[in-house]
Amino acid sequence: MNDGGQRRYDPLGRTLVIIPTYNEAENIKPIVSRVRAAVPEADILVADDNSPDGTGKLADELASADERVHVLHRKSKEGLGAAYLAGFRWGMEHDYGVLVEMDADGSHQPEELPRLLTALKGADLVLGSRWVPGGRVVNWPKSREMISRGGSTYSRLMLGLRTRDVTGGYRAFRTETLKGIGLDEVASQGYCFQVDLARRAIDAGYHVVEVPITFVDREIGDSKMSRDILVEALWRVTAWGVTTRTNRVLGRRTP
Ligand code: GDD
Ligand code: MN
Repeated sequence: MNDGGQRRYDPLGRTLVIIPTYNEAENIKPIVSRVRAAVPEADILVADDNSPDGTGKLADELASADERVHVLHRKSKEGLGAAYLAGFRWGMEHDYGVLVEMDADGSHQPEELPRLLTALKGADLVLGSRWVPGGRVVNWPKSREMISRGGSTYSRLMLGLRTRDVTGGYRAFRTETLKGIGLDEVASQGYCFQVDLARRAIDAGYHVVEVPITFVDREIGDSKMSRDILVEALWRVTAWGVTTRTNRVLGRRTP
């Protein structure tokens, strides 16, 4: 827990990099080989939602050629949150000590992962952050940057968080941290899943550290960001904020 850095942390254990995919056929091979080169000691789990473009089949080919690569086939597109929850459970069943979240499209550079993992040696959760000094975004349309910065600012104000980048999706968790925050209660489906996990970890008193990253917008394929994902994020963050404040007034702890 957050005790001013006095705590001793357990050694990290084996690392699993979880990559959720939906229609990433052109991205999956390059990203897997970049992860393999950047962190050769880590395993990879591709969590594919039965992508119509055959991403799952390509991932199977990679898995049959490399014992460090695994594939979790899911029946249909259920959102980023559900794919990660399934991936986390798989990682827990297989006794990994560290579970990493990474997009398939190259926005999260595998070459930066060693820095996140080094920071995790002295933390419970490391967030790759675009909005701390040294962090940045490359090639993102201004409109998308506004949505992301606005989403982080709104979430921080609503939830009373000091973290700068609460919506980002490049993260390294100690498995113990995920066990401690109660994944069974997480209902978020879309990208607000990221805000949900961050607020739960912070509220539970875990030591959460932000490490600057350079987020590079995808060159191939399309973002799955949609109006529905935005609407879900807005209503959930608002509801969490209202609950947290009400509980504070009533002197209760938010579950
Ligand atoms: N299995 C599965 N199911 N994968 C999904 C789904 C889904 O329903 N939706 C998206 N993905 C995968 C994509 O294939 C990609 O690998 C990753 O999740 C991120 O999706 P993008 O569509 O590329 O996200 P983005 O670039 O718009 O958004 C990024 O920034 C957001 C805001 O900071 C991501 O890093 C998000 O995680 C982040 O919240
Ligand atoms: Mn992307």
